[in-house]
Amino acid sequence: MTGAPEDPPRRQRVMLLGGTGTIGRAAAQALLDEGHEVVCFVRPGAAGLPDNAVIRTGQATDVASLRDDAFRGEGFDVMVSCLASRSGSPEDAWAIDHRAHVMALDEARRAGVHHVVLLSAICVQKPRLAFQHAKLAFEKVLADSGLAYSIVRPTAYFKSLSGQIDRIRRGKPFLLFGDGQLTATKPISDHDLGRYIALCLRDSSLRGILPIGGPGPAFTPRQQGQWLFELLGWPPRFRCVPVAMLDAIVATLAALGTLSPKLREKAELARIGRYYATESMLTWDAGTGRYDADTTPSFGSDTLRDHYAAILAGAPEQDLGAHRVF
Ligand SMILES: NC(=O)c1ccc[n+]([C@@H]2O[C@H](COP(=O)([O-])OP(=O)(O)OC[C@H]3O[C@@H](n4cnc5c(N)ncnc54)[C@H](OP(=O)(O)O)[C@@H]3O)[C@@H](O)[C@H]2O)c1
Repeated sequence: MTGAPEDPPRRQRVMLLGGTGTIGRAAAQALLDEGHEVVCFVRPGAAGLPDNAVIRTGQATDVASLRDDAFRGEGFDVMVSCLASRSGSPEDAWAIDHRAHVMALDEARRAGVHHVVLLSAICVQKPRLAFQHAKLAFEKVLADSGLAYSIVRPTAYFKSLSGQIDRIRRGKPFLLFGDGQLTATKPISDHDLGRYIALCLRDSSLRGILPIGGPGPAFTPRQQGQWLFELLGWPPRFRCVPVAMLDAIVATLAALGTLSPKLREKAELARIGRYYATESMLTWDAGTGRYDADTTPSFGSDTLRDHYAAILAGAPEQDLGAHRVF
Protein backbone atom coordinates (compact mmCIF):
# COMPACT_ATOMS: atom_id res chain seq x y z
CA MET A 1 0.00 0.00 0.00
CA THR A 2 1.30 3.41 -0.89
CA GLY A 3 -0.98 5.98 0.78
CA ALA A 4 -4.29 6.88 2.42
CA PRO A 5 -7.52 6.69 0.37
CA GLU A 6 -8.27 10.40 0.93
CA ASP A 7 -4.91 11.43 -0.52
CA PRO A 8 -4.14 9.03 -3.36
CA PRO A 9 -0.55 9.06 -4.53
CA ARG A 10 -0.02 9.82 -8.18
CA ARG A 11 1.34 6.36 -8.97
CA GLN A 12 -0.95 3.60 -7.80
CA ARG A 13 -0.70 -0.14 -8.08
CA VAL A 14 -3.66 -1.30 -10.13
CA MET A 15 -5.11 -4.77 -10.65
CA LEU A 16 -6.91 -4.66 -14.01
CA LEU A 17 -9.46 -7.35 -14.90
CA GLY A 18 -10.80 -7.64 -18.45
CA GLY A 19 -7.74 -5.86 -19.89
CA THR A 20 -8.07 -7.75 -23.20
CA GLY A 21 -11.54 -6.32 -23.94
CA THR A 22 -12.28 -3.28 -26.10
CA ILE A 23 -12.52 -0.90 -23.16
CA GLY A 24 -10.07 -2.88 -21.00
CA ARG A 25 -7.29 -2.28 -23.55
CA ALA A 26 -8.06 1.43 -23.69
CA ALA A 27 -8.18 1.58 -19.89
CA ALA A 28 -4.84 -0.26 -19.58
CA GLN A 29 -3.18 2.26 -21.87
CA ALA A 30 -4.78 5.26 -20.14
CA LEU A 31 -3.76 3.98 -16.69
CA LEU A 32 -0.18 3.49 -17.89
CA ASP A 33 -0.21 6.96 -19.48
CA GLU A 34 -1.18 8.36 -16.06
CA GLY A 35 1.92 6.71 -14.59
CA HIS A 36 0.27 3.85 -12.70
CA GLU A 37 1.66 0.35 -12.31
CA VAL A 38 -0.82 -1.90 -14.11
CA VAL A 39 -1.09 -5.64 -13.49
CA CYS A 40 -3.43 -7.27 -16.02
CA PHE A 41 -5.02 -10.57 -15.05
CA VAL A 42 -5.98 -12.28 -18.31
CA ARG A 43 -6.82 -15.68 -19.74
CA PRO A 44 -3.90 -17.76 -21.04
CA GLY A 45 -2.90 -16.87 -24.60
CA ALA A 46 -3.93 -13.21 -24.43
CA ALA A 47 -1.97 -11.00 -26.83
CA GLY A 48 -1.63 -7.36 -27.78
CA LEU A 49 -1.53 -5.83 -24.31
CA PRO A 50 0.74 -2.81 -23.73
CA ASP A 51 4.43 -3.79 -23.26
CA ASN A 52 4.79 -1.90 -20.00
CA ALA A 53 1.85 -3.64 -18.31
CA VAL A 54 2.55 -6.66 -16.09
CA ILE A 55 0.69 -9.69 -17.46
CA ARG A 56 -0.54 -12.50 -15.21
CA THR A 57 -2.61 -15.38 -16.51
CA GLY A 58 -5.31 -17.52 -14.92
CA GLN A 59 -9.08 -17.90 -14.58
CA ALA A 60 -11.15 -15.02 -13.25
CA THR A 61 -13.96 -17.49 -12.52
CA ASP A 62 -11.80 -19.50 -10.10
CA VAL A 63 -11.22 -18.12 -6.61
CA ALA A 64 -7.95 -20.04 -6.16
CA SER A 65 -6.61 -18.63 -9.44
CA LEU A 66 -7.64 -15.09 -8.44
CA ARG A 67 -5.76 -15.54 -5.17
CA ASP A 68 -2.66 -17.43 -6.39
CA ASP A 69 -2.24 -16.23 -10.00
CA ALA A 70 -3.65 -12.68 -9.88
CA PHE A 71 -3.14 -11.07 -6.46
CA ARG A 72 -0.42 -13.53 -5.21
CA GLY A 73 -0.61 -12.18 -1.66
CA GLU A 74 0.72 -8.78 -2.81
CA GLY A 75 -0.62 -5.31 -1.99
CA PHE A 76 -2.67 -3.29 -4.49
CA ASP A 77 -4.22 0.18 -4.25
CA VAL A 78 -7.00 -0.02 -6.83
CA MET A 79 -8.90 -2.69 -8.76
CA VAL A 80 -10.29 -1.70 -12.15
CA SER A 81 -12.65 -4.17 -13.79
CA CYS A 82 -13.62 -4.12 -17.46
CA LEU A 83 -14.50 -7.82 -17.23
CA ALA A 84 -17.85 -8.64 -18.83
CA SER A 85 -19.68 -11.58 -20.34
CA ARG A 86 -18.89 -11.78 -24.05
CA SER A 87 -22.12 -13.60 -24.91
CA GLY A 88 -24.71 -11.96 -22.64
CA SER A 89 -26.34 -15.37 -22.04
CA PRO A 90 -27.91 -15.55 -18.57
CA GLU A 91 -25.51 -18.27 -17.34
CA ASP A 92 -22.40 -16.48 -18.58
CA ALA A 93 -23.61 -13.10 -17.30
CA TRP A 94 -24.18 -14.43 -13.79
CA ALA A 95 -20.82 -16.30 -13.87
CA ILE A 96 -18.81 -13.26 -15.04
CA ASP A 97 -20.67 -10.03 -14.32
CA HIS A 98 -21.69 -11.21 -10.86
CA ARG A 99 -19.89 -14.26 -9.37
CA ALA A 100 -16.37 -13.61 -10.72
CA HIS A 101 -16.65 -10.02 -9.53
CA VAL A 102 -17.80 -11.01 -6.03
CA MET A 103 -14.78 -13.32 -5.72
CA ALA A 104 -12.40 -10.71 -7.13
CA LEU A 105 -13.75 -8.10 -4.71
CA ASP A 106 -12.99 -10.39 -1.75
CA GLU A 107 -9.45 -10.93 -3.00
CA ALA A 108 -9.02 -7.22 -3.71
CA ARG A 109 -10.03 -6.35 -0.16
CA ARG A 110 -7.49 -8.88 1.15
CA ALA A 111 -4.84 -7.21 -1.05
CA GLY A 112 -5.53 -3.82 0.59
CA VAL A 113 -7.41 -2.27 -2.35
CA HIS A 114 -9.17 0.91 -1.22
CA HIS A 115 -10.94 1.89 -4.46
CA VAL A 116 -12.72 -0.18 -7.12
CA VAL A 117 -13.55 1.16 -10.58
CA LEU A 118 -16.18 -0.99 -12.31
CA LEU A 119 -17.17 -0.79 -15.97
CA SER A 120 -20.94 -1.25 -16.03
CA ALA A 121 -23.58 0.01 -18.51
CA ILE A 122 -26.15 2.81 -18.52
CA CYS A 123 -28.89 0.34 -19.50
CA VAL A 124 -28.90 -1.19 -16.00
CA GLN A 125 -30.94 1.84 -14.92
CA LYS A 126 -33.94 0.16 -16.62
CA PRO A 127 -33.21 -3.53 -16.09
CA ARG A 128 -35.13 -6.03 -18.22
CA LEU A 129 -32.40 -8.51 -19.24
CA ALA A 130 -30.48 -11.20 -17.36
CA PHE A 131 -27.08 -9.55 -17.84
CA GLN A 132 -28.45 -6.25 -16.48
CA HIS A 133 -29.73 -8.00 -13.34
CA ALA A 134 -26.36 -9.74 -12.89
CA LYS A 135 -24.52 -6.43 -13.21
CA LEU A 136 -26.88 -4.68 -10.79
CA ALA A 137 -26.47 -7.47 -8.25
CA PHE A 138 -22.70 -6.93 -8.22
CA GLU A 139 -23.06 -3.15 -8.23
CA LYS A 140 -25.00 -3.56 -4.97
CA VAL A 141 -22.34 -5.84 -3.46
CA LEU A 142 -19.70 -3.24 -4.35
CA ALA A 143 -21.74 -0.30 -3.04
CA ASP A 144 -22.26 -2.16 0.26
CA SER A 145 -18.60 -3.19 0.53
CA GLY A 146 -17.40 -0.13 2.42
CA LEU A 147 -14.69 0.45 -0.20
CA ALA A 148 -14.60 3.61 -2.31
CA TYR A 149 -16.15 2.84 -5.69
CA SER A 150 -16.69 4.35 -9.13
CA ILE A 151 -19.36 2.51 -11.11
CA VAL A 152 -18.90 3.76 -14.67
CA ARG A 153 -22.08 3.38 -16.74
CA PRO A 154 -21.32 4.31 -20.36
CA THR A 155 -23.97 5.02 -22.99
CA ALA A 156 -22.89 3.21 -26.20
CA TYR A 157 -19.58 2.28 -27.79
CA PHE A 158 -18.55 3.18 -31.32
CA LYS A 159 -18.12 -0.52 -32.23
CA SER A 160 -21.79 -1.16 -31.42
CA LEU A 161 -22.86 1.61 -33.81
CA SER A 162 -20.55 0.61 -36.67
CA GLY A 163 -21.99 -2.79 -37.54
CA GLN A 164 -23.73 -1.61 -40.74
CA ILE A 165 -20.75 0.05 -42.43
CA ASP A 166 -19.94 -3.08 -44.41
CA ARG A 167 -23.47 -3.63 -45.71
CA ILE A 168 -23.74 0.04 -46.77
CA ARG A 169 -20.42 -0.23 -48.64
CA ARG A 170 -21.87 -3.29 -50.41
CA GLY A 171 -24.72 -1.09 -51.67
CA LYS A 172 -27.40 -2.25 -49.23
CA PRO A 173 -29.80 0.06 -47.37
CA PHE A 174 -29.26 1.09 -43.74
CA LEU A 175 -31.60 -0.92 -41.51
CA LEU A 176 -33.74 0.97 -39.01
CA PHE A 177 -36.24 -0.15 -36.38
CA GLY A 178 -39.51 1.75 -36.60
CA ASP A 179 -38.78 5.08 -38.27
CA GLY A 180 -35.20 5.12 -36.98
CA GLN A 181 -36.04 7.76 -34.40
CA LEU A 182 -37.29 5.61 -31.55
CA THR A 183 -33.99 5.91 -29.70
CA ALA A 184 -31.05 8.26 -29.31
CA THR A 185 -27.62 8.18 -27.72
CA LYS A 186 -24.39 10.10 -27.12
CA PRO A 187 -21.77 7.38 -27.73
CA ILE A 188 -18.29 7.49 -26.23
CA SER A 189 -15.10 6.28 -27.93
CA ASP A 190 -12.92 3.53 -26.44
CA HIS A 191 -10.08 6.01 -26.05
CA ASP A 192 -12.20 8.62 -24.24
CA LEU A 193 -13.78 6.00 -21.99
CA GLY A 194 -10.36 4.56 -21.14
CA ARG A 195 -9.23 8.05 -20.13
CA TYR A 196 -12.38 8.56 -18.07
CA ILE A 197 -11.79 5.28 -16.21
CA ALA A 198 -8.20 6.32 -15.46
CA LEU A 199 -9.40 9.75 -14.33
CA CYS A 200 -11.53 8.05 -11.65
CA LEU A 201 -8.29 7.25 -9.79
CA ARG A 202 -7.19 10.83 -9.31
CA ASP A 203 -10.47 12.78 -9.33
CA SER A 204 -12.13 12.06 -6.00
CA SER A 205 -15.40 13.62 -7.24
CA LEU A 206 -15.77 10.61 -9.57
CA ARG A 207 -17.26 8.27 -6.97
CA GLY A 208 -20.59 6.46 -6.84
CA ILE A 209 -22.67 5.77 -9.95
CA LEU A 210 -21.36 7.60 -13.00
CA PRO A 211 -23.42 7.59 -16.21
CA ILE A 212 -21.17 8.85 -19.01
CA GLY A 213 -21.52 9.59 -22.71
CA GLY A 214 -19.42 11.21 -25.39
CA PRO A 215 -19.35 14.83 -26.62
CA GLY A 216 -22.07 16.68 -28.51
CA PRO A 217 -25.84 16.30 -28.73
CA ALA A 218 -27.68 12.96 -28.79
CA PHE A 219 -28.59 11.52 -32.19
CA THR A 220 -30.80 8.79 -33.60
CA PRO A 221 -29.99 5.70 -35.71
CA ARG A 222 -31.45 7.52 -38.76
CA GLN A 223 -28.88 10.29 -38.24
CA GLN A 224 -26.09 7.67 -38.10
CA GLY A 225 -27.22 6.25 -41.43
CA GLN A 226 -27.42 9.74 -42.92
CA TRP A 227 -23.79 10.41 -41.93
CA LEU A 228 -22.61 7.22 -43.61
CA PHE A 229 -24.32 8.06 -46.90
CA GLU A 230 -23.13 11.69 -46.73
CA LEU A 231 -19.53 10.56 -46.14
CA LEU A 232 -19.77 8.17 -49.08
CA GLY A 233 -21.40 10.86 -51.24
CA TRP A 234 -24.33 8.53 -51.95
CA PRO A 235 -28.08 9.25 -51.69
CA PRO A 236 -29.44 7.81 -48.41
CA ARG A 237 -31.30 4.49 -48.55
CA PHE A 238 -33.10 3.13 -45.51
CA ARG A 239 -35.13 0.00 -44.84
CA CYS A 240 -37.49 0.20 -41.86
CA VAL A 241 -38.17 -2.95 -39.84
CA PRO A 242 -41.32 -2.81 -37.70
CA VAL A 243 -40.77 -3.38 -33.99
CA ALA A 244 -43.73 -5.80 -34.15
CA MET A 245 -41.49 -8.12 -36.20
CA LEU A 246 -38.95 -8.15 -33.37
CA ASP A 247 -41.76 -8.85 -30.90
CA ALA A 248 -42.85 -11.84 -32.97
CA ILE A 249 -39.28 -13.20 -33.07
CA VAL A 250 -38.89 -12.70 -29.30
CA ALA A 251 -42.22 -14.46 -28.61
CA THR A 252 -41.41 -17.40 -30.93
CA LEU A 253 -37.94 -17.94 -29.48
CA ALA A 254 -39.27 -17.57 -25.92
CA ALA A 255 -41.76 -20.37 -26.62
CA LEU A 256 -39.07 -22.56 -28.25
CA GLY A 257 -36.70 -21.70 -25.39
CA THR A 258 -38.57 -24.09 -23.13
CA LEU A 259 -37.26 -26.92 -25.35
CA SER A 260 -33.49 -26.47 -25.01
CA PRO A 261 -30.83 -24.31 -23.34
CA LYS A 262 -29.47 -23.32 -26.79
CA LEU A 263 -32.85 -21.94 -27.85
CA ARG A 264 -33.20 -20.24 -24.45
CA GLU A 265 -29.91 -18.42 -25.16
CA LYS A 266 -31.18 -17.38 -28.59
CA ALA A 267 -34.38 -16.06 -26.97
CA GLU A 268 -32.30 -13.93 -24.60
CA LEU A 269 -30.25 -12.59 -27.54
CA ALA A 270 -33.51 -11.62 -29.29
CA ARG A 271 -34.68 -9.84 -26.12
CA ILE A 272 -31.33 -7.99 -26.01
CA GLY A 273 -31.81 -6.91 -29.64
CA ARG A 274 -35.35 -5.74 -28.95
CA TYR A 275 -34.18 -3.78 -25.90
CA TYR A 276 -31.52 -1.84 -27.82
CA ALA A 277 -33.91 -1.23 -30.74
CA THR A 278 -36.38 0.53 -28.48
CA GLU A 279 -34.49 2.02 -25.48
CA SER A 280 -32.26 5.07 -25.68
CA MET A 281 -28.80 4.91 -24.16
CA LEU A 282 -29.20 8.13 -22.18
CA THR A 283 -30.08 8.83 -18.56
CA TRP A 284 -33.63 7.84 -17.67
CA ASP A 285 -35.74 10.40 -15.84
CA ALA A 286 -38.20 8.37 -13.76
CA GLY A 287 -40.13 11.58 -12.92
CA THR A 288 -40.98 12.40 -16.54
CA GLY A 289 -40.79 8.81 -17.78
CA ARG A 290 -38.40 9.93 -20.54
CA TYR A 291 -34.78 9.63 -21.52
CA ASP A 292 -32.91 12.89 -21.13
CA ALA A 293 -29.91 13.86 -23.27
CA ASP A 294 -29.33 17.07 -21.30
CA THR A 295 -28.73 15.27 -18.01
CA THR A 296 -26.48 12.62 -19.61
CA PRO A 297 -22.92 13.68 -18.74
CA SER A 298 -20.40 14.03 -21.57
CA PHE A 299 -16.69 13.36 -21.63
CA GLY A 300 -13.98 13.40 -24.28
CA SER A 301 -13.67 14.75 -27.79
CA ASP A 302 -13.97 11.84 -30.25
CA THR A 303 -17.13 11.80 -32.38
CA LEU A 304 -18.87 8.90 -34.08
CA ARG A 305 -19.05 10.82 -37.37
CA ASP A 306 -15.24 11.19 -37.40
CA HIS A 307 -14.93 7.50 -36.52
CA TYR A 308 -17.12 6.61 -39.52
CA ALA A 309 -15.05 8.93 -41.72
CA ALA A 310 -11.83 7.24 -40.56
CA ILE A 311 -13.18 3.74 -41.26
CA LEU A 312 -14.47 4.74 -44.69
CA ALA A 313 -11.03 6.22 -45.40
CA GLY A 314 -9.45 2.84 -44.65
CA ALA A 315 -8.75 2.80 -40.89
CA PRO A 316 -8.91 -0.75 -39.53
CA GLU A 317 -12.26 -1.80 -38.10
CA GLN A 318 -12.46 -3.65 -34.80
CA ASP A 319 -12.70 -7.39 -35.14
CA LEU A 320 -15.68 -8.33 -33.02
CA GLY A 321 -15.02 -12.03 -33.54
CA ALA A 322 -17.81 -14.46 -32.81
CA HIS A 323 -19.27 -12.30 -30.06
CA ARG A 324 -21.00 -9.30 -31.52
CA VAL A 325 -23.56 -8.75 -28.76
CA PHE A 326 -21.79 -6.01 -26.80
N1 LIG B 1 -21.29 -2.14 -26.41
C1 LIG B 1 -21.80 -1.05 -25.90
O1 LIG B 1 -22.25 -0.15 -26.62
C2 LIG B 1 -21.81 -0.88 -24.41
C3 LIG B 1 -22.27 0.32 -23.89
C4 LIG B 1 -22.24 0.51 -22.51
C5 LIG B 1 -21.77 -0.50 -21.68
N2 LIG B 1 -21.35 -1.67 -22.22
C6 LIG B 1 -20.86 -2.70 -21.30
O2 LIG B 1 -19.47 -2.83 -21.52
C7 LIG B 1 -19.09 -4.17 -21.24
C8 LIG B 1 -18.37 -4.71 -22.45
O3 LIG B 1 -17.18 -3.99 -22.61
P1 LIG B 1 -16.19 -4.38 -23.79
O4 LIG B 1 -16.92 -4.23 -25.08
O5 LIG B 1 -14.92 -3.69 -23.58
O6 LIG B 1 -16.03 -5.93 -23.47
P2 LIG B 1 -15.35 -7.07 -24.37
O7 LIG B 1 -14.55 -6.44 -25.45
O8 LIG B 1 -16.40 -8.05 -24.69
O9 LIG B 1 -14.32 -7.70 -23.30
C9 LIG B 1 -14.76 -8.50 -22.24
C10 LIG B 1 -13.58 -8.76 -21.33
O10 LIG B 1 -14.01 -9.69 -20.31
C11 LIG B 1 -13.18 -10.85 -20.41
N3 LIG B 1 -13.94 -12.08 -20.16
C12 LIG B 1 -15.16 -12.40 -20.64
N4 LIG B 1 -15.51 -13.63 -20.23
C13 LIG B 1 -14.47 -14.11 -19.47
C14 LIG B 1 -14.22 -15.32 -18.78
N5 LIG B 1 -15.09 -16.33 -18.78
N6 LIG B 1 -13.05 -15.45 -18.12
C15 LIG B 1 -12.15 -14.45 -18.12
N7 LIG B 1 -12.31 -13.28 -18.77
C16 LIG B 1 -13.46 -13.11 -19.44
C17 LIG B 1 -12.65 -10.88 -21.82
O11 LIG B 1 -11.49 -11.69 -21.85
P3 LIG B 1 -11.08 -12.46 -23.23
O12 LIG B 1 -10.47 -11.40 -24.12
O13 LIG B 1 -10.10 -13.48 -22.76
O14 LIG B 1 -12.34 -13.04 -23.80
C18 LIG B 1 -12.39 -9.40 -22.06
O15 LIG B 1 -11.20 -9.00 -21.43
C19 LIG B 1 -20.36 -4.94 -20.97
O16 LIG B 1 -20.49 -4.98 -19.58
C20 LIG B 1 -21.44 -4.07 -21.56
O17 LIG B 1 -22.67 -4.24 -20.90
C21 LIG B 1 -21.35 -1.88 -23.56
